[in-house]
Amino acid sequence: MNNLELSKPHEEIRTFDRDREGTTQGFVTSNPKMLRIIDIARLVAQTDVPILILGESGVGKDVLASYIHRHSDRAHGPFVRLNCAALPTELLESELFGYDQGAFTGAGRSKPGKFELADNGTVFLDEIGEMSPHLQAKLLHVLQDGEFSRLGARWPIKVNVRILAATNRKLQEAVLRGEFRNDLYFRLNVITLDIPPLRERRGDILLLCKYFLEKYGKKYASSVEAFPQDLLEACVWYDWPGNVRQLENIVKRQLILPDGDLISELHSPRRLVPVQCAPSLKEIGGRAAEEAEKNVALTVLQQTGWNRKESARRLNISYKAFRNKLKRWQLSRECPNWQAEAQSRLN
Ligand SMILES: Nc1ncnc2c1ncn2[C@@H]1O[C@H](COP(=O)(O)OP(=O)(O)O)[C@@H](O)[C@H]1O
Ligand SMILES: [Mg+2]
Repeated sequence: MNNLELSKPHEEIRTFDRDREGTTQGFVTSNPKMLRIIDIARLVAQTDVPILILGESGVGKDVLASYIHRHSDRAHGPFVRLNCAALPTELLESELFGYDQGAFTGAGRSKPGKFELADNGTVFLDEIGEMSPHLQAKLLHVLQDGEFSRLGARWPIKVNVRILAATNRKLQEAVLRGEFRNDLYFRLNVITLDIPPLRERRGDILLLCKYFLEKYGKKYASSVEAFPQDLLEACVWYDWPGNVRQLENIVKRQLILPDGDLISELHSPRRLVPVQCAPSLKEIGGRAAEEAEKNVALTVLQQTGWNRKESARRLNISYKAFRNKLKRWQLSRECPNWQAEAQSRLN
């Protein structure tokens, strides 16, 4: 039963479960890394700097974003969330920035965008990695100057919004591939909170099981009060690719429709990569080396304020070879000095 001791009630367990309306939006954890993230979040919540929340799908990025809002001076202002992956670019643009009457066919009336609606509050941009280059440029403008224009409008509008962003993609890699603007990246990631996947904090699994059993047991008036021991053990050792969301769904399902096969489902091995499709060791090594090179290059570029000659010198390769690499990685945009400075101060 050693495994279950992992998540025995522990002094450090804290639930963060009150919001303004008194509804429970729990943040359940006993994991030191998570507790540290929450402490930092509470600390930086009071400032106006943008915060970038990273983590796989289902780890709790939304929960953390609303936690930050509730602990900020803007808690009484609006919290407006928008998923950048859910809408095509044009629609996302009009949702974010709004439009004036006649801005395009069908724009019969003017409509405020989320940035206006969130004035004196927080805008949470989920899946920011999916934002098109055009909108990335407009967002950068909002971050730099606090202003933007509605579509079709003559005059810019000033707003006072705090921006939180989240992504489940490796945003730094997207920058290296040229898919995400590096200047916007540096603006957004002044503070980065990286939420670990559930499989890296197994101590939270039983806590969360218990929490969801109580929460949904009442709601569904279920007769199930606890999970049998063998099911709990299977939960503790399962890898949870869908993280807390998957665990929550499984608990709900079990409460409504208890399923005896669940244990074997949790034990079944993840689908393996078919042998003929698996990359060779040489390929894997090559890719890893390239990845490491890119990371080092980016760090040195940041340190030198994107001075490519100086970076090449520090990396001990010829300027020409370095330029070729940057071209291959599509790492060509200039990054203004202040961002590199800000970055190095934070490092
Ligand atoms: N630490 C936690 N404590 C309690 N519930 C959590 C926790 N983390 C996530 N959840 C719940 O899991 C689900 C997924 O969380 P969410 O914040 O939407 O994940 P993400 O935005 O990273 O995909 C939500 O229903 C959320 O309430
Ligand atoms: Mg989310």
